[in-house]
Amino acid sequence: MSVEVKTICCIGAGYVGGPTMAVIADKCKYLKVIVVDLNKVKIDSWNNADLTKLPVYEPGLKDLIKRCRNKNLFFSTKIQESIAESDMVFISVNTPTKQSGLGAGEASNLKYIESSARSIAEYAVGHTIVVEKSTIPVKTAEVIKNILISSQKGLEKNPSKSFTVLSSPEFLAEGTAIDDLINPSRVLIGGESKTSIDALVNIYKNWVSEEKIIKTNIWSSELSKLTANAFLAQRVSSINSISALCEKTGADISEVAKAVGMDYRIGKHFLKSGPGFGGSCFKKDILNLVYICKLYGLNEVANYWKEVLEINNWQQNRLTNIIVKKLFGTVTNKKIGILGFAFKANTNDTRESPAINICSNLLLEGAKLSIFDPKVKFQEISDSLENFNNPENNSFKTNDSISMASSYEQLANGSDAIIILTEWDEFKAIEWSRISKLMRKPSWIFDCRDIIDPNHFVESDLNIWKLGCGSNIKIIK
Ligand code: UDX
Ligand code: ADP
Repeated sequence: MSVEVKTICCIGAGYVGGPTMAVIADKCKYLKVIVVDLNKVKIDSWNNADLTKLPVYEPGLKDLIKRCRNKNLFFSTKIQESIAESDMVFISVNTPTKQSGLGAGEASNLKYIESSARSIAEYAVGHTIVVEKSTIPVKTAEVIKNILISSQKGLEKNPSKSFTVLSSPEFLAEGTAIDDLINPSRVLIGGESKTSIDALVNIYKNWVSEEKIIKTNIWSSELSKLTANAFLAQRVSSINSISALCEKTGADISEVAKAVGMDYRIGKHFLKSGPGFGGSCFKKDILNLVYICKLYGLNEVANYWKEVLEINNWQQNRLTNIIVKKLFGTVTNKKIGILGFAFKANTNDTRESPAINICSNLLLEGAKLSIFDPKVKFQEISDSLENFNNPENNSFKTNDSISMASSYEQLANGSDAIIILTEWDEFKAIEWSRISKLMRKPSWIFDCRDIIDPNHFVESDLNIWKLGCGSNIKIIK
Protein backbone atom coordinates (compact mmCIF):
# COMPACT_ATOMS: atom_id res chain seq x y z
CA MET A 1 0.00 0.00 0.00
CA SER A 2 1.41 3.43 -0.82
CA VAL A 3 0.53 6.72 0.82
CA GLU A 4 -0.29 9.65 -1.41
CA VAL A 5 1.14 12.87 -0.06
CA LYS A 6 -0.41 16.04 -1.47
CA THR A 7 0.05 18.57 1.30
CA ILE A 8 2.90 18.90 3.75
CA CYS A 9 3.31 21.26 6.64
CA CYS A 10 6.43 22.26 8.55
CA ILE A 11 6.16 23.46 12.14
CA GLY A 12 8.95 26.01 12.64
CA ALA A 13 9.89 28.68 10.09
CA GLY A 14 13.54 29.05 11.14
CA TYR A 15 16.94 28.48 9.57
CA VAL A 16 16.13 24.83 8.85
CA GLY A 17 12.36 24.84 8.21
CA GLY A 18 12.25 27.85 5.87
CA PRO A 19 15.03 26.88 3.41
CA THR A 20 14.18 23.14 3.50
CA MET A 21 10.55 23.72 2.62
CA ALA A 22 11.47 26.27 -0.05
CA VAL A 23 13.60 23.64 -1.82
CA ILE A 24 10.92 20.93 -1.46
CA ALA A 25 8.30 23.31 -2.89
CA ASP A 26 10.57 24.20 -5.80
CA LYS A 27 11.40 20.59 -6.60
CA CYS A 28 7.89 19.19 -6.06
CA LYS A 29 5.50 21.56 -7.78
CA TYR A 30 2.66 19.04 -7.28
CA LEU A 31 2.91 19.43 -3.48
CA LYS A 32 1.30 22.14 -1.40
CA VAL A 33 3.86 23.16 1.23
CA ILE A 34 2.84 25.19 4.28
CA VAL A 35 5.40 26.52 6.79
CA VAL A 36 3.83 27.51 10.11
CA ASP A 37 5.22 29.29 13.13
CA LEU A 38 3.88 30.74 16.37
CA ASN A 39 5.97 33.84 15.75
CA LYS A 40 3.82 36.22 13.70
CA VAL A 41 6.64 38.68 13.10
CA LYS A 42 8.73 35.90 11.55
CA ILE A 43 5.87 34.73 9.34
CA ASP A 44 5.21 38.33 8.25
CA SER A 45 8.89 38.63 7.29
CA TRP A 46 8.70 35.43 5.25
CA ASN A 47 5.70 36.97 3.48
CA ASN A 48 7.33 40.39 3.01
CA ALA A 49 7.18 41.62 -0.58
CA ASP A 50 10.69 43.01 -0.10
CA LEU A 51 12.81 39.87 -0.38
CA THR A 52 15.75 41.51 1.40
CA LYS A 53 13.63 41.42 4.56
CA LEU A 54 13.34 37.61 4.79
CA PRO A 55 14.20 36.47 8.34
CA VAL A 56 16.93 34.15 7.09
CA TYR A 57 19.79 35.20 4.84
CA GLU A 58 21.03 32.37 2.62
CA PRO A 59 22.55 32.67 -0.84
CA GLY A 60 19.92 31.53 -3.39
CA LEU A 61 16.99 31.64 -0.97
CA LYS A 62 15.41 34.83 -2.32
CA ASP A 63 15.07 33.33 -5.82
CA LEU A 64 13.34 30.22 -4.50
CA ILE A 65 10.91 32.27 -2.43
CA LYS A 66 10.17 34.47 -5.41
CA ARG A 67 9.43 31.42 -7.57
CA CYS A 68 7.30 29.44 -5.13
CA ARG A 69 5.74 31.76 -2.54
CA ASN A 70 1.95 31.85 -2.73
CA LYS A 71 2.05 29.32 -5.59
CA ASN A 72 2.75 26.06 -3.77
CA LEU A 73 4.68 27.47 -0.79
CA PHE A 74 2.84 29.29 2.00
CA PHE A 75 3.96 30.85 5.26
CA SER A 76 1.25 31.02 7.89
CA THR A 77 0.43 31.27 11.59
CA LYS A 78 -2.63 29.05 11.09
CA ILE A 79 -1.11 26.01 12.76
CA GLN A 80 -4.34 24.17 13.45
CA GLU A 81 -5.76 24.35 9.90
CA SER A 82 -2.40 23.61 8.29
CA ILE A 83 -1.84 20.45 10.34
CA ALA A 84 -5.38 19.29 9.64
CA GLU A 85 -4.87 19.74 5.92
CA SER A 86 -1.52 17.91 5.76
CA ASP A 87 -0.63 14.29 5.04
CA MET A 88 2.90 14.77 6.34
CA VAL A 89 4.04 17.15 9.11
CA PHE A 90 7.70 18.06 9.64
CA ILE A 91 8.79 19.24 13.07
CA SER A 92 11.55 21.81 12.72
CA VAL A 93 11.40 23.79 15.93
CA ASN A 94 14.22 25.02 18.14
CA THR A 95 15.64 22.75 20.86
CA PRO A 96 17.81 25.00 23.05
CA THR A 97 20.02 23.58 25.79
CA LYS A 98 18.17 23.40 29.11
CA GLN A 99 19.09 26.23 31.47
CA SER A 100 17.63 24.70 34.62
CA GLY A 101 16.31 21.46 36.06
CA LEU A 102 17.33 17.93 35.15
CA GLY A 103 20.16 17.91 32.59
CA ALA A 104 20.65 21.71 32.84
CA GLY A 105 23.55 22.91 30.69
CA GLU A 106 23.65 19.67 28.70
CA ALA A 107 20.29 18.18 27.70
CA SER A 108 18.13 19.84 25.07
CA ASN A 109 14.90 21.39 26.12
CA LEU A 110 12.23 19.49 24.25
CA LYS A 111 9.33 21.75 25.23
CA TYR A 112 8.85 23.04 21.67
CA ILE A 113 8.98 19.50 20.26
CA GLU A 114 6.45 18.44 22.86
CA SER A 115 4.09 21.30 22.11
CA SER A 116 4.38 20.61 18.37
CA ALA A 117 3.59 16.93 18.95
CA ARG A 118 0.60 17.92 21.06
CA SER A 119 -0.67 20.22 18.31
CA ILE A 120 -0.30 17.43 15.75
CA ALA A 121 -2.09 14.98 18.07
CA GLU A 122 -4.95 17.41 18.47
CA TYR A 123 -5.43 18.79 14.99
CA ALA A 124 -4.33 16.05 12.59
CA VAL A 125 -6.99 14.41 10.48
CA GLY A 126 -6.77 10.84 9.09
CA HIS A 127 -3.32 9.28 8.79
CA THR A 128 -0.40 11.66 9.34
CA ILE A 129 3.29 10.97 8.85
CA VAL A 130 5.30 12.98 11.38
CA VAL A 131 8.91 13.71 10.42
CA GLU A 132 11.36 15.02 13.01
CA LYS A 133 13.79 17.44 11.41
CA SER A 134 14.88 19.45 14.45
CA THR A 135 18.31 18.92 15.97
CA ILE A 136 17.38 16.56 18.77
CA PRO A 137 18.83 14.10 21.23
CA VAL A 138 18.53 10.36 20.65
CA LYS A 139 15.13 8.94 21.66
CA THR A 140 13.17 12.08 20.82
CA ALA A 141 11.06 10.13 18.34
CA GLU A 142 9.95 8.09 21.35
CA VAL A 143 8.70 11.27 23.06
CA ILE A 144 6.79 12.27 19.93
CA LYS A 145 5.35 8.77 19.53
CA ASN A 146 4.24 8.65 23.15
CA ILE A 147 2.39 11.92 22.85
CA LEU A 148 0.72 10.88 19.61
CA ILE A 149 -0.23 7.42 20.92
CA SER A 150 -1.59 8.78 24.22
CA SER A 151 -3.72 11.19 22.26
CA GLN A 152 -5.22 8.31 20.31
CA LYS A 153 -6.52 6.70 23.47
CA GLY A 154 -9.95 8.03 24.08
CA LEU A 155 -10.30 8.86 20.43
CA GLU A 156 -13.40 6.80 20.05
CA LYS A 157 -14.95 9.88 18.45
CA ASN A 158 -12.38 9.77 15.67
CA PRO A 159 -10.87 6.31 15.41
CA SER A 160 -9.60 7.05 11.93
CA LYS A 161 -6.79 9.27 13.26
CA SER A 162 -3.40 7.54 13.10
CA PHE A 163 0.31 8.45 13.03
CA THR A 164 3.71 7.16 12.06
CA VAL A 165 6.93 8.88 13.14
CA LEU A 166 10.08 9.17 11.04
CA SER A 167 13.43 10.73 11.84
CA SER A 168 15.02 12.59 8.95
CA PRO A 169 17.75 14.83 10.32
CA GLU A 170 18.83 17.75 8.18
CA PHE A 171 22.54 18.01 7.37
CA LEU A 172 22.48 21.44 5.71
CA ALA A 173 25.09 23.94 6.82
CA GLU A 174 24.12 27.58 7.04
CA GLY A 175 25.56 29.80 4.37
CA THR A 176 25.38 26.93 1.87
CA ALA A 177 21.92 25.68 2.87
CA ILE A 178 20.31 25.89 -0.56
CA ASP A 179 23.20 24.10 -2.32
CA ASP A 180 23.30 21.50 0.45
CA LEU A 181 19.57 20.88 0.09
CA ILE A 182 19.69 20.67 -3.69
CA ASN A 183 22.80 18.44 -3.74
CA PRO A 184 22.77 16.67 -0.38
CA SER A 185 25.66 14.37 0.54
CA ARG A 186 22.95 12.00 1.77
CA VAL A 187 19.34 11.98 2.92
CA LEU A 188 18.80 9.94 6.04
CA ILE A 189 15.42 8.47 6.89
CA GLY A 190 14.89 6.43 10.03
CA GLY A 191 11.68 4.66 10.90
CA GLU A 192 9.72 1.45 11.13
CA SER A 193 6.89 1.95 8.67
CA LYS A 194 7.94 1.06 5.14
CA THR A 195 5.00 2.87 3.54
CA SER A 196 5.78 6.08 5.45
CA ILE A 197 9.48 5.85 4.59
CA ASP A 198 8.56 5.32 0.94
CA ALA A 199 6.27 8.35 1.05
CA LEU A 200 9.19 10.54 2.16
CA VAL A 201 11.58 8.86 -0.29
CA ASN A 202 9.10 9.68 -3.07
CA ILE A 203 9.39 13.36 -2.24
CA TYR A 204 13.20 13.35 -2.21
CA LYS A 205 13.36 11.19 -5.35
CA ASN A 206 12.19 14.22 -7.32
CA TRP A 207 15.75 15.56 -7.20
CA VAL A 208 17.98 13.23 -5.15
CA SER A 209 19.26 9.95 -6.57
CA GLU A 210 18.15 6.90 -4.65
CA GLU A 211 21.69 5.74 -3.78
CA LYS A 212 22.01 8.85 -1.63
CA ILE A 213 18.91 8.02 0.39
CA ILE A 214 19.85 5.96 3.45
CA LYS A 215 17.15 4.10 5.34
CA THR A 216 17.93 3.13 8.94
CA ASN A 217 16.20 2.37 12.17
CA ILE A 218 14.99 5.44 13.98
CA TRP A 219 17.68 5.47 16.70
CA SER A 220 20.53 5.11 14.20
CA SER A 221 19.12 8.06 12.30
CA GLU A 222 18.94 10.25 15.40
CA LEU A 223 22.39 9.23 16.63
CA SER A 224 23.98 9.69 13.19
CA LYS A 225 23.16 13.39 13.24
CA LEU A 226 24.71 13.89 16.67
CA THR A 227 27.76 11.87 15.67
CA ALA A 228 28.28 13.68 12.36
CA ASN A 229 28.19 17.05 14.11
CA ALA A 230 30.44 15.83 16.92
CA PHE A 231 33.03 14.59 14.38
CA LEU A 232 32.93 17.87 12.47
CA ALA A 233 33.31 19.90 15.65
CA GLN A 234 36.14 17.62 16.74
CA ARG A 235 38.06 18.39 13.54
CA VAL A 236 37.72 22.11 14.19
CA SER A 237 38.89 21.70 17.79
CA SER A 238 41.77 19.50 16.63
CA ILE A 239 43.08 22.03 14.14
CA ASN A 240 42.50 24.89 16.57
CA SER A 241 44.54 23.12 19.25
CA ILE A 242 47.40 22.81 16.75
CA SER A 243 47.06 26.50 15.76
CA ALA A 244 48.23 27.43 19.27
CA LEU A 245 51.26 25.17 18.92
CA CYS A 246 52.07 26.69 15.52
CA GLU A 247 52.16 30.16 17.05
CA LYS A 248 54.69 28.96 19.64
CA THR A 249 56.93 27.01 17.28
CA GLY A 250 57.01 29.11 14.13
CA ALA A 251 54.96 26.64 12.08
CA ASP A 252 52.12 28.01 9.94
CA ILE A 253 48.72 26.40 10.52
CA SER A 254 47.58 26.77 6.91
CA GLU A 255 50.69 24.91 5.72
CA VAL A 256 50.22 22.22 8.35
CA ALA A 257 46.50 21.84 7.49
CA LYS A 258 47.33 21.51 3.79
CA ALA A 259 50.01 18.89 4.37
CA VAL A 260 47.82 16.92 6.78
CA GLY A 261 44.66 17.18 4.66
CA MET A 262 46.35 15.78 1.55
CA ASP A 263 46.34 12.38 3.22
CA TYR A 264 43.16 10.98 1.66
CA ARG A 265 42.34 9.21 4.92
CA ILE A 266 42.17 12.56 6.68
CA GLY A 267 40.80 14.73 3.87
CA LYS A 268 41.19 18.45 3.31
CA HIS A 269 37.77 19.74 4.41
CA PHE A 270 36.97 21.24 7.78
CA LEU A 271 40.60 21.88 8.67
CA LYS A 272 40.48 25.66 8.80
CA SER A 273 41.59 27.03 12.12
CA GLY A 274 39.62 29.96 13.42
CA PRO A 275 38.20 31.61 16.52
CA GLY A 276 36.28 28.45 17.43
CA PHE A 277 33.13 26.89 16.07
CA GLY A 278 29.76 28.49 16.57
CA GLY A 279 26.28 27.90 15.20
CA SER A 280 23.21 26.36 16.67
CA CYS A 281 24.21 22.71 16.32
CA PHE A 282 27.76 21.75 17.28
CA LYS A 283 27.74 22.76 20.93
CA LYS A 284 24.19 21.60 21.51
CA ASP A 285 24.72 18.25 19.81
CA ILE A 286 27.93 17.52 21.73
CA LEU A 287 26.21 18.48 24.98
CA ASN A 288 23.41 16.07 24.09
CA LEU A 289 25.95 13.37 23.35
CA VAL A 290 27.70 14.02 26.67
CA TYR A 291 24.38 13.94 28.51
CA ILE A 292 23.20 10.70 26.95
CA CYS A 293 26.59 9.00 27.49
CA LYS A 294 26.48 9.94 31.17
CA LEU A 295 22.92 8.68 31.39
CA TYR A 296 24.13 5.27 30.22
CA GLY A 297 27.15 5.37 32.54
CA LEU A 298 29.65 5.93 29.70
CA ASN A 299 31.59 8.60 31.57
CA GLU A 300 34.85 8.14 29.63
CA VAL A 301 33.00 8.67 26.35
CA ALA A 302 31.26 11.72 27.81
CA ASN A 303 34.59 13.21 28.95
CA TYR A 304 36.18 12.55 25.57
CA TRP A 305 33.56 14.61 23.74
CA LYS A 306 33.37 17.29 26.41
CA GLU A 307 37.01 18.13 25.69
CA VAL A 308 36.06 19.14 22.13
CA LEU A 309 33.90 21.88 23.65
CA GLU A 310 36.50 22.87 26.18
CA ILE A 311 39.16 23.45 23.53
CA ASN A 312 36.60 25.57 21.66
CA ASN A 313 36.07 27.86 24.65
CA TRP A 314 39.77 27.91 25.37
CA GLN A 315 40.51 29.04 21.81
CA GLN A 316 38.17 32.03 22.21
CA ASN A 317 39.57 33.00 25.60
CA ARG A 318 43.17 32.60 24.49
CA LEU A 319 42.51 34.93 21.55
CA THR A 320 41.22 37.63 23.87
CA ASN A 321 44.28 37.24 26.08
CA ILE A 322 46.63 37.60 23.12
CA ILE A 323 44.83 40.74 21.93
CA VAL A 324 44.95 42.37 25.36
CA LYS A 325 48.63 41.49 25.81
CA LYS A 326 49.60 42.93 22.42
CA LEU A 327 47.80 46.17 23.28
CA PHE A 328 50.16 46.79 26.23
CA GLY A 329 48.11 44.70 28.64
CA THR A 330 45.05 46.91 28.65
CA VAL A 331 42.17 47.71 26.31
CA THR A 332 40.29 49.97 28.74
CA ASN A 333 38.66 52.77 26.75
CA LYS A 334 40.47 51.71 23.60
CA LYS A 335 38.45 51.52 20.42
CA ILE A 336 38.60 48.09 18.83
CA GLY A 337 37.08 47.30 15.45
CA ILE A 338 35.34 43.95 15.05
CA LEU A 339 35.01 42.68 11.50
CA GLY A 340 32.25 40.10 11.37
CA PHE A 341 29.82 38.97 14.03
CA ALA A 342 28.01 36.06 12.30
CA PHE A 343 29.25 32.61 13.35
CA LYS A 344 30.48 32.02 9.80
CA ALA A 345 30.27 33.80 6.45
CA ASN A 346 27.11 34.00 4.31
CA THR A 347 24.63 33.85 7.14
CA ASN A 348 22.96 36.40 9.40
CA ASP A 349 22.91 33.85 12.23
CA THR A 350 24.85 34.72 15.40
CA ARG A 351 23.88 31.76 17.58
CA GLU A 352 26.94 30.60 19.57
CA SER A 353 29.13 32.84 17.41
CA PRO A 354 32.69 33.01 18.75
CA ALA A 355 32.32 36.79 18.34
CA ILE A 356 29.93 36.80 21.31
CA ASN A 357 32.48 35.36 23.72
CA ILE A 358 35.43 37.34 22.35
CA CYS A 359 33.53 40.65 22.30
CA SER A 360 32.19 40.03 25.80
CA ASN A 361 35.69 39.36 27.10
CA LEU A 362 36.92 42.61 25.53
CA LEU A 363 33.96 44.53 26.96
CA LEU A 364 34.76 43.15 30.40
CA GLU A 365 38.29 44.48 29.90
CA GLY A 366 36.77 47.93 29.27
CA ALA A 367 37.11 48.14 25.47
CA LYS A 368 34.81 50.19 23.22
CA LEU A 369 33.78 48.06 20.27
CA SER A 370 32.89 49.24 16.80
CA ILE A 371 31.34 46.32 14.90
CA PHE A 372 30.79 45.75 11.20
CA ASP A 373 28.94 42.79 9.71
CA PRO A 374 27.35 42.81 6.25
CA LYS A 375 24.21 40.91 7.32
CA VAL A 376 23.80 41.00 11.09
CA LYS A 377 21.64 43.76 12.58
CA PHE A 378 22.73 45.88 15.55
CA GLN A 379 19.79 44.68 17.67
CA GLU A 380 20.86 41.08 17.19
CA ILE A 381 24.42 41.88 18.29
CA SER A 382 23.30 43.93 21.23
CA ASP A 383 20.83 41.23 22.38
CA SER A 384 23.37 38.44 22.14
CA LEU A 385 26.00 40.38 24.08
CA GLU A 386 23.46 41.51 26.65
CA ASN A 387 22.19 37.95 27.24
CA PHE A 388 25.70 36.56 27.36
CA ASN A 389 26.93 39.16 29.79
CA ASN A 390 24.18 38.90 32.35
CA PRO A 391 24.28 42.69 32.84
CA GLU A 392 23.40 42.61 36.54
CA ASN A 393 26.86 41.25 37.31
CA ASN A 394 28.79 43.59 35.10
CA SER A 395 29.98 47.11 35.50
CA PHE A 396 29.50 48.14 31.88
CA LYS A 397 26.37 48.74 29.90
CA THR A 398 26.64 46.83 26.65
CA ASN A 399 24.92 49.47 24.56
CA ASP A 400 27.21 52.26 25.77
CA SER A 401 30.26 50.24 24.81
CA ILE A 402 29.31 48.93 21.39
CA SER A 403 28.40 50.67 18.17
CA MET A 404 27.72 49.54 14.66
CA ALA A 405 30.08 50.86 12.00
CA SER A 406 28.48 51.54 8.64
CA SER A 407 31.79 51.53 6.73
CA TYR A 408 35.33 50.22 7.11
CA GLU A 409 36.51 53.82 7.50
CA GLN A 410 34.18 54.40 10.43
CA LEU A 411 35.32 51.14 12.02
CA ALA A 412 39.01 52.00 11.62
CA ASN A 413 38.84 55.65 12.65
CA GLY A 414 40.80 55.99 15.90
CA SER A 415 40.91 52.22 16.52
CA ASP A 416 43.93 50.62 18.15
CA ALA A 417 43.12 47.25 16.65
CA ILE A 418 40.85 45.50 14.18
CA ILE A 419 39.92 41.88 14.78
CA ILE A 420 38.65 39.73 11.91
CA LEU A 421 36.18 37.21 13.31
CA THR A 422 34.07 36.15 10.29
CA GLU A 423 35.45 35.17 6.89
CA TRP A 424 33.13 37.33 4.75
CA ASP A 425 34.47 37.48 1.18
CA GLU A 426 34.19 41.25 1.06
CA PHE A 427 36.77 41.55 3.86
CA LYS A 428 39.36 40.07 1.50
CA ALA A 429 39.07 43.18 -0.69
CA ILE A 430 39.65 45.75 2.07
CA GLU A 431 42.34 48.27 1.14
CA TRP A 432 44.32 48.06 4.33
CA SER A 433 46.91 50.63 3.30
CA ARG A 434 44.14 53.27 3.20
CA ILE A 435 42.19 52.03 6.20
CA SER A 436 45.25 51.72 8.42
CA LYS A 437 46.00 55.45 8.09
CA LEU A 438 42.83 56.14 10.07
CA MET A 439 43.91 53.98 13.00
CA ARG A 440 45.71 55.09 16.16
CA LYS A 441 49.38 54.07 16.25
CA PRO A 442 50.70 51.53 16.98
CA SER A 443 47.86 49.74 15.21
CA TRP A 444 47.16 46.05 15.06
CA ILE A 445 45.22 43.70 12.82
CA PHE A 446 44.32 40.37 14.38
CA ASP A 447 43.33 38.02 11.58
CA CYS A 448 41.51 35.07 13.10
CA ARG A 449 40.15 33.78 9.76
CA ASP A 450 43.15 33.75 7.44
CA ILE A 451 41.65 36.53 5.35
CA ILE A 452 44.52 38.92 4.77
CA ASP A 453 47.53 38.48 2.55
CA PRO A 454 50.57 39.69 4.54
CA ASN A 455 52.38 40.47 1.27
CA HIS A 456 50.15 43.54 0.95
CA PHE A 457 51.57 44.93 4.16
CA VAL A 458 55.27 44.94 3.36
CA GLU A 459 55.45 48.75 3.27
CA SER A 460 52.87 49.40 5.96
CA ASP A 461 53.49 50.16 9.61
CA LEU A 462 50.59 47.94 10.69
CA ASN A 463 51.31 45.16 13.16
CA ILE A 464 49.78 41.93 11.99
CA TRP A 465 48.95 38.90 14.06
CA LYS A 466 47.53 35.83 12.34
CA LEU A 467 45.87 32.92 14.05
CA GLY A 468 48.09 29.88 13.73
CA CYS A 469 51.15 31.98 12.80
CA GLY A 470 51.29 34.67 15.44
CA SER A 471 53.40 37.66 14.47
CA ASN A 472 55.99 35.53 12.63
CA ILE A 473 54.31 36.05 9.30
CA LYS A 474 56.19 34.88 6.28
CA ILE A 475 56.32 37.53 3.55
CA ILE A 476 57.06 36.09 0.12
CA LYS A 477 58.73 38.92 -1.78
C1 UDX B 1 26.72 22.28 10.98
C2 UDX B 1 26.94 21.03 10.11
O1 UDX B 1 28.00 21.30 9.16
C3 UDX B 1 25.66 20.66 9.38
O2 UDX B 1 25.85 19.44 8.66
C4 UDX B 1 24.54 20.49 10.42
O3 UDX B 1 23.32 20.23 9.76
C5 UDX B 1 24.40 21.74 11.27
O4 UDX B 1 25.65 22.06 11.88
P1 UDX B 1 26.61 24.89 10.53
O5 UDX B 1 26.70 25.02 12.00
O6 UDX B 1 25.54 25.63 9.82
O7 UDX B 1 26.43 23.36 10.11
O8 UDX B 1 28.00 25.36 9.86
P2 UDX B 1 29.44 24.69 9.65
O9 UDX B 1 29.88 25.02 8.28
O10 UDX B 1 29.46 23.28 10.02
O11 UDX B 1 30.36 25.53 10.63
C6 UDX B 1 30.24 25.44 12.04
C7 UDX B 1 31.30 26.27 12.71
O12 UDX B 1 32.59 25.70 12.53
C8 UDX B 1 31.41 27.70 12.18
O13 UDX B 1 31.58 28.60 13.25
C9 UDX B 1 32.63 27.68 11.29
O14 UDX B 1 33.27 28.93 11.18
C10 UDX B 1 33.50 26.67 12.04
N1 UDX B 1 34.48 26.01 11.15
C11 UDX B 1 34.06 25.18 10.18
C12 UDX B 1 35.84 26.25 11.35
O15 UDX B 1 36.24 27.01 12.24
N2 UDX B 1 36.73 25.61 10.53
C13 UDX B 1 36.36 24.76 9.54
O16 UDX B 1 37.24 24.22 8.84
C14 UDX B 1 34.97 24.54 9.34
P1 ADP C 1 16.44 26.09 13.50
O1 ADP C 1 17.80 26.66 13.31
O2 ADP C 1 16.46 24.69 14.09
O3 ADP C 1 15.58 26.17 12.28
P2 ADP C 1 15.10 28.42 14.64
O4 ADP C 1 15.19 28.94 16.03
O5 ADP C 1 15.70 29.23 13.53
O6 ADP C 1 15.72 26.95 14.67
O7 ADP C 1 13.58 28.16 14.27
C1 ADP C 1 12.68 27.42 15.02
C2 ADP C 1 11.29 28.05 14.90
O8 ADP C 1 10.33 27.18 15.52
C3 ADP C 1 11.14 29.41 15.59
O9 ADP C 1 10.76 30.39 14.63
C4 ADP C 1 10.01 29.19 16.64
O10 ADP C 1 9.13 30.30 16.75
C5 ADP C 1 9.27 27.99 16.04
N1 ADP C 1 8.48 27.22 17.01
C6 ADP C 1 8.88 26.72 18.20
N2 ADP C 1 7.88 26.01 18.78
C7 ADP C 1 6.81 26.06 17.94
C8 ADP C 1 5.48 25.52 17.97
N3 ADP C 1 5.07 24.75 18.98
N4 ADP C 1 4.66 25.79 16.93
C9 ADP C 1 5.10 26.54 15.89
N5 ADP C 1 6.34 27.07 15.79
C10 ADP C 1 7.18 26.84 16.80
